[in-house]
Amino acid sequence: MLTKIHITSAKQDFSSLALAPVAVLPEFQGKGIGGMLIQAAHKRAKDLGYQSIILLGHEEYYPRFGYRVADEFGISLPFDVPRENCMAIELQPNALKGVHGQVVYAKEFFD
Ligand SMILES: CC(C)(COP(=O)(O)OP(=O)(O)OC[C@H]1O[C@@H](n2cnc3c(N)ncnc32)[C@H](O)[C@@H]1OP(=O)(O)O)[C@@H](O)C(=O)NCCC(=O)NCCS
Repeated sequence: MLTKIHITSAKQDFSSLALAPVAVLPEFQGKGIGGMLIQAAHKRAKDLGYQSIILLGHEEYYPRFGYRVADEFGISLPFDVPRENCMAIELQPNALKGVHGQVVYAKEFFD
């Protein structure tokens, strides 16, 4: 699922998306379905005009799709979680250049 988020700081408010959850039934895992879901989500996001996605996830899984540690962009999540699990992808080159701040999720995401 992709959810609208904001990356905010005292200086800026940037619209982006969060990817969560991603899930494949255990009996269908390891067949490439998770990867296809993620790539399809990226395409849908781009088609809607979004240029970046952030997520909280397994540090060994998401880099293969182009995700990098969010801290490298100066972006943090509003949770106390390991740095390597907070990741972001630029769907267009340099889409997150100059974008710094903390992610604010939609309130519905936590309901
Ligand atoms: C993560 C998940 C969505 C991947 O879906 P999938 O259809 O099995 O993924 P794919 O077939 O596209 O890719 C399989 C690869 O993902 C890797 N992988 C799966 N789960 C992983 C994990 N928790 N950590 C690291 N790598 C993982 C596998 O080792 C495999 O690697 P390989 O291609 O090098 O052999 C699926 O395992 C799942 O639903 N897990 C339970 C829910 C979950 O943890 N969701 C992610 C929340 S961040």
